[in-house]
Amino acid sequence: MTLIARTAETLERTAEALRSATGVPVTTVAADFNSDAGREAALADCPEPDILVNNPGVRQTPGDFRAWSRKDWQYWLDVHFLSSVQLIQSVVPGMCKRRFGRIVNMSVSFIKFPQVGFAHSHAARLALSGAVAAMVRELVPFNVTINTVCPGLFDTDALHTNLRGHASRANTSYEAIVEDRLKSCPAGRFADPSECGDLIAYLCSAQAGFMTGQNIVSDGGVYQGLF
Ligand SMILES: NC(=O)c1ccc[n+]([C@@H]2O[C@H](COP(=O)([O-])OP(=O)(O)OC[C@H]3O[C@@H](n4cnc5c(N)ncnc54)[C@H](OP(=O)(O)O)[C@@H]3O)[C@@H](O)[C@H]2O)c1
Repeated sequence: MTLIARTAETLERTAEALRSATGVPVTTVAADFNSDAGREAALADCPEPDILVNNPGVRQTPGDFRAWSRKDWQYWLDVHFLSSVQLIQSVVPGMCKRRFGRIVNMSVSFIKFPQVGFAHSHAARLALSGAVAAMVRELVPFNVTINTVCPGLFDTDALHTNLRGHASRANTSYEAIVEDRLKSCPAGRFADPSECGDLIAYLCSAQAGFMTGQNIVSDGGVYQGLF
C-alpha cells in the first residue's frame, strides 16, 4: 500500500498505524497530489495498483464566485478533476489487463444539493462524476469499477476549518454553526472518519464488482432526494 500526502511526519504516523493494525507493508510518498511530479512519484512507488483512492484533501472555505478569476477556477479544476482523472488514466490499462481494479473518488454530498459559496468545488467535482459516468461501461467488462463517495459531515480537521469559514461568512460564532449543522442532521452527530473508510473498503472489495459509476451519499440523512 502506498500513501501520498505532503507532510512526511503525519503521513509516516498514519502508515505506522496501518502497519501495526494490519501487518500490511505500507510505504509513503510525501508529495503534492496536484503536481505531475507528485503523482509520478506515487506511481513510481506503486506502478501497478489494483486499488486507487483519489482523495484530494484540499481544505476549502466558502467564497464569493463573483471574485474568482479564470486562474482560480482552473486551480479547482486541477485539484478536484484533472489530478484524479490523470491518475485514473494511468492505472486503468494495467487494471484491465489484470482483470481487477477498484477506483474510488472522494467527493462531497453537496454535489447533489449544491451550497452557496462552493461553486468552485461543486463544479470541479461534478466534472469528475460526469467523466467517470462516461468511462465506467468501457471498464466494467474487465472487472474494473469506479465509484464516488459523497460524504456529509465527518469529524476531521477539514470539517472544522470549513465550519469556521461558514461562521465567518455568516458573521456568527463557530459554536453556533456547529449547533446548526448538528440540528439539521437527522443522525444528530458528525460521522467518525472510519465510517467513510468502511464504505470505501466495501467499494474496493472483490464483492463490489457489480457496482460502478455510482455517487454514494453518506450523510446521516441530510440529503432528502431519492437519487
Ligand atoms: N470531513 C468532511 O466532513 C468532508 C465532507 C465532505 C467531503 N469531504 C472531502 O473529503 C476529502 C478529505 O477530507 P478530510 O476531511 O479527510 O480532510 P483533512 O482532514 O484535511 O485531510 C486531508 C488529507 O489530504 C492530504 N492532502 C491535502 N492536500 C494534499 C495535496 N495537495 N497532495 C497530497 N495530499 C494532500 C492532507 O495531508 P497534507 O496536508 O500533509 O498534504 C491530509 O492528509 C476532501 O476532498 C474533502 O473535501 C470531507
